[in-house]
Amino acid sequence: MTTEPGWSPSSERPPLDEAALRAWAGAPGSGWRELRVVDETGSTNDDLAAAARSGEAAGLVLVSEWQRGGHGRLGRSWTAPPRSGLTFSVLLRPTRPPAALGWLPLLAGLAVVDGVEEVAELRLGLKWPNDVLHDERKLAGLLAERVQDAVVVGIGLNVSLRADELPVQGATSLALAGRPGLDRSVLLTAVLGRLAAWVARWEAGDDQGTRSAYRSRCLTIGRTVRADQPGGQAVSGTAVDVDADGRLVVETTSGPVAVAAADVRHLR
Ligand code: BTN
Repeated sequence: MTTEPGWSPSSERPPLDEAALRAWAGAPGSGWRELRVVDETGSTNDDLAAAARSGEAAGLVLVSEWQRGGHGRLGRSWTAPPRSGLTFSVLLRPTRPPAALGWLPLLAGLAVVDGVEEVAELRLGLKWPNDVLHDERKLAGLLAERVQDAVVVGIGLNVSLRADELPVQGATSLALAGRPGLDRSVLLTAVLGRLAAWVARWEAGDDQGTRSAYRSRCLTIGRTVRADQPGGQAVSGTAVDVDADGRLVVETTSGPVAVAAADVRHLR
């Protein structure tokens, strides 16, 4: 166990129930092969990327009670005090062609929305591509990374963070959303269960079902947006759809533009 500052007493922030989680993941029908919990690591995504390169099979879940170097999309960091949230990654080895892989982070967002809504009884939504919002504030973020023929999907969910612990403006936690004291192990199995189910549907080719579910929970559609693309080009207009490749379709003054990757702001 680390002696780094920030570790709260177990009574305030209880550890995950590792034995129960391992048993849950190992049981038939969980959709996962193995679940490991560690006290701390650099980044669960980095660890599973290394495991993927070493030939680790699909279905491994790695959960860390604290990350020293958690990272997010577009080079951002992901920080949270120990045991204040869920920080975990899953290793997938999809059988679908590369063009379809863009759907995996979107489905992970959907799984977080479904799983957390079920446990917390809160209404959540998605900001394209995969920020999970409560009341327009970011509750969870997702990072999908391709590693050879594997995909590592990492999820960070703010559970008990207080306002002074939030890493960025515009973020929130389940506690701040009015749901203090939720059991993180229960939240984790709810999200993992939904994620396994969505990935199975996508692997089975149910593109219509998965796309329609994503669109129905996507808060970006219908909003005036500014999408800053990685190359620096900005697209502004009204977001009207998410297309079959998972791209955001923005109606601009010069016609529709499909955006594959961007930092999106909801303007109105
Ligand atoms: C984002 O909002 O930009 C994505 C954040 C993803 C954070 C998670 S926490 C678990 C996993 N490990 C990482 O280093 N990142 C992801």
